[in-house]
Amino acid sequence: FNSALYPLTASGAGYTALGTPATPHGFELGMSNGTGGAGGQGSLEKHKSLTYLNGLSLVVGLIIGSGVFSSPASVNSNAGSPGAALVVWAIAGLLAWTGAASYAELGGAIPLNGGAQVYLSKIFGEWAGFLFTWCAVTVLKPGSAAIIAIIFGEYTVRAVIGADSMAASSWINKGVALIGLAFVTAINCTSTKLGTRAADFFMFFKFLGLLAITVTGIVVAVTGLAYNKDGLSTTWKNTNWFEGTSTSSSQWAVALYAGLWAYDGWDNTNYVVGEMVNPARDLPKTIHTSLPLVICAYLLANLGYVFVLPHEVINASNTVAVAFGQTVFGPLGSLFLALTVACSCFGALNATTFTAGRLVYSAGKEGYIPQLFSTIGLSPSGGQRMRLSRRPTSSRGKRLTTFVADEQGFFYTPIYAMLLNAGLTAIYTIIGDFTTLTTFYGVASYLFYFLAVVGLIVLRVKEPELERPYKCWIVTPVVFCCVSLFLVSRAVFATPVQALIVLGFIAAGVPIYWWRVGSQFGLISGLIGLSLCIAQTINGHIASVQERE
Ligand code: ARG
Repeated sequence: FNSALYPLTASGAGYTALGTPATPHGFELGMSNGTGGAGGQGSLEKHKSLTYLNGLSLVVGLIIGSGVFSSPASVNSNAGSPGAALVVWAIAGLLAWTGAASYAELGGAIPLNGGAQVYLSKIFGEWAGFLFTWCAVTVLKPGSAAIIAIIFGEYTVRAVIGADSMAASSWINKGVALIGLAFVTAINCTSTKLGTRAADFFMFFKFLGLLAITVTGIVVAVTGLAYNKDGLSTTWKNTNWFEGTSTSSSQWAVALYAGLWAYDGWDNTNYVVGEMVNPARDLPKTIHTSLPLVICAYLLANLGYVFVLPHEVINASNTVAVAFGQTVFGPLGSLFLALTVACSCFGALNATTFTAGRLVYSAGKEGYIPQLFSTIGLSPSGGQRMRLSRRPTSSRGKRLTTFVADEQGFFYTPIYAMLLNAGLTAIYTIIGDFTTLTTFYGVASYLFYFLAVVGLIVLRVKEPELERPYKCWIVTPVVFCCVSLFLVSRAVFATPVQALIVLGFIAAGVPIYWWRVGSQFGLISGLIGLSLCIAQTINGHIASVQERE
């Protein structure tokens, strides 16, 4: 172990140099060995290439995944009436927006890659950032990606083989999920541009899909034309939209959880702030366009569902979008909608792969995991060479020297970081169980969102002079903190065992925080081994609970 390679940067004192000048905000990048990453080669943050549009498509790309196509059942059935369901969708959206706006302030004040990792380190001390990273790298990122991959697999199989064979074999679904994951990882390892182009494309596709559902819903409502006229909802015209609204607060909370999953991913751009050309301007702009757009799109799509499908059908179907397609256009419609959901999940998988790679990469840079994972390019010492040899010539034969410093270089990506994330995602896809992953994800992620936003308030008090290119209205973080604290504590009371497992997992990071001064391979195998054990324990627990039921 060479301690010089793994120096700990003192929290509060700012980060030490990485061969890059200090940012105007007093925060600098990365480790104190000044090499700029493994093997002294490139650093992602040096080549700022992400624009406003890229930021937008990374957020929207992850937010619009499967949730809006499948969560309506839990939102509607728990809210009790179509009107109340729309209110839940609006509240969940506004809550996500307050969180995202708070993160926009943090991202402007601390413009580095890594999201909550750097905010928590800076504000509460490195241990907090480490514990977040520990959870995010081992479970949150790969776990949520696995959920999306599994849904991608299910819908793809459904679209290709046909609706009835959806439950045929979960292994076929998982196989397709793994192929999708491999494809997305390959795209993102090959080039940053390819990854962001794919994200841009899927963003437009998703908005188009949601818009199509809305327009179709309105047309069907007005004309009454549909493949299955008998299956159409007729009640929306005359019923009181709020009839049957639930009065139980726990049902509202469950509806809210389902809605929040559909809006989750609003922190995605924060992981890549260090690579944004103009984060001070573009990050808040990204947040304040993406969230309102998504909220409108979700509300409209849900209106579309309500216009076409009877309330009972929405309540009972886990594949609302497919039921919508089936009712309006028949079997072809259901196939088409299944394909749309599959593409949407593929886009979300792409967006999370892009940023999760960056998170693992910054963890490597901070010395939390072996430095190999902060390598840019294929070979720890030859990445630079690889990049140079790929330098193309312009049409007039002149060397495009700027290309070297450009993110367009092939394999100028954190390949090992991507591979680690993909490997863990594959493991969760294979062994993971949907309910386990979602519960774990919900509790742990909201706990860290809560801490980071509390951190925003702490930072305002501790460092009022700190330059903040964007400052949100103080009510925003306060509202977010109150609601997320409620959500986390409610989960603790409602499912104490699962909440304990989450806390235990976070606590398991503490010895590792000290242990990371041990050997690199000991550390990484420890990380993987421990996360596997815990995933299995959780699985076993869920299985036994289900058996008892
Ligand atoms: N909102 C997404 C969906 O509806 C899920 C996002 C998961 N979050 C994450 N950080 N990977 O599918």
